[in-house]
Amino acid sequence: MSSDSDGPTDAGQSADGEAPLVPYPPNVGHPSLHVLRQMRDPLAFSEELFATRDVARFYLAGMGDIYAVAHPDFLKRVLLTERDRFRKTDDFRIAFGEGLLTVEGEEWRNQRDVLQPLFTRDAVTGYADGMVEQIRRRSDRWHDGQRFDLQAELTDMTLDVLFATVLGRELALDGDESIREAAEHLHDWFLPTSYFLPNWMPSPARRRFGSAKETLEAEAQRLLEEKAGDAPTDPGEAEDLLSLLVGLREAGVTDTGMLTDERLRDQMVTIIFAGHDTTTTSLTFAFWALANHPEAREKFHAEVDALDGPPTMADVDELTYTDKLLTETLRLFPPVYSLPREAAEDVTFDGYRVPGGERLMLPLRIVQRDPRFFEDPETFRPERWSKQFRQELHDFAYAPFGGGPRICIGRQFALLEAKLALATIGREYDLYWLGENDADGEPPVSPEMTTRMEPGQEFLVSER
Ligand code: HEM
Repeated sequence: MSSDSDGPTDAGQSADGEAPLVPYPPNVGHPSLHVLRQMRDPLAFSEELFATRDVARFYLAGMGDIYAVAHPDFLKRVLLTERDRFRKTDDFRIAFGEGLLTVEGEEWRNQRDVLQPLFTRDAVTGYADGMVEQIRRRSDRWHDGQRFDLQAELTDMTLDVLFATVLGRELALDGDESIREAAEHLHDWFLPTSYFLPNWMPSPARRRFGSAKETLEAEAQRLLEEKAGDAPTDPGEAEDLLSLLVGLREAGVTDTGMLTDERLRDQMVTIIFAGHDTTTTSLTFAFWALANHPEAREKFHAEVDALDGPPTMADVDELTYTDKLLTETLRLFPPVYSLPREAAEDVTFDGYRVPGGERLMLPLRIVQRDPRFFEDPETFRPERWSKQFRQELHDFAYAPFGGGPRICIGRQFALLEAKLALATIGREYDLYWLGENDADGEPPVSPEMTTRMEPGQEFLVSER
């Protein structure tokens, strides 16, 4: 990757006559100003980057040149067909150590093989009752006329679910504040104020990140010790991640280095980071969409009201409108709005070159709002997701969970949790939006590592 001192490169053609470098788009101003535009409004900036081409380059002082490609064909090449020519960037590994999100090659294959059985569509059905229990435990306390920051409430709820199901430990409803705060501060590594600094440079946000990670590692260590001697040594019998990992270690099944205390802690912190905020964001935007689209709300209510009682696993396949609603929410508001990679060698897109070693972004939000693939792309329209539309859509035009072998391991878990939460809450409450949309009718968002709603946006609870 270019270092800070390189400065923006304007050379269009390299000396040996290879394909020209991906150009800086002329409509986004001088490269020295890109960082300001990116910090001021990253979503608008990224839309402008792709106004005329599917490839773009921008310059962020502190990080250097960043390349970005926004076409489903390019996503498919990077994530699937030519994936060996790309790798993950260093920053996640520096932040989270050697968990599934960050490792590469054989180490990744090993970890994925060990963890995958816990996250298959069948396996996650075993979590459904536990999910509903946690969702109800919190939402049963809501009452008519209450106003709250829904995103903050759902952050607590998804953390309750993740801990109770995957980590085998129920969090206190009004307690365990240090864990909740620490989980929140894991994002501080990626705040714009820190993200553009060299990795070695301390900052207040990085210090908060460091202490959050220590808190969660200590909790992970405590859970590992508590579970020791009490986990099934047959991985098929493990009911959660904690017992799987501890059981494998005790059975001496694998010794790839993955089962040292340090690696196990990395894995658990990775799952806490990857496994709750993304689902929170999806649910928050889904409730925003319901509050802002009365026809969608009516159809959704008709579906969830037709259930015999509070939703269970047996109802999930019947929730076809809820499924479309969630799919459309993840299209318009993908929680991970851009996937980071690095080119391992020179690669050409559309006749333009991304040099080896350079950072490459895959802006999912741009691709999922591309009018070449989605009619009237800015409009929230769950009905577009007919069976035929799904079959005919380019397989990488919709990729909120990424794609190829490194597709999100938690997607079945997340989809199940989100559907159960929508249906459980939707049967009991209407949530009215008290925030203000922008001129385009979009909610206020703050894109960091995930695209969250701006904090403090209130909803009003109305019992149904
Ligand atoms: C709506 C919710 C979710 C969204 C939108 C989401 C999105 C993603 C995306 C886009 C990736 C690919 C990253 C890349 O290729 O660079 C990913 C990977 C991953 N996700 Fe999720 N995720 C969600 C929920 C979850 C949950 C619930 C868990 C765990 C319980 C989880 C754990 C992971 C892990 C461990 C990886 C790395 C997989 C690998 O590299 O093999 N995610 N997720």
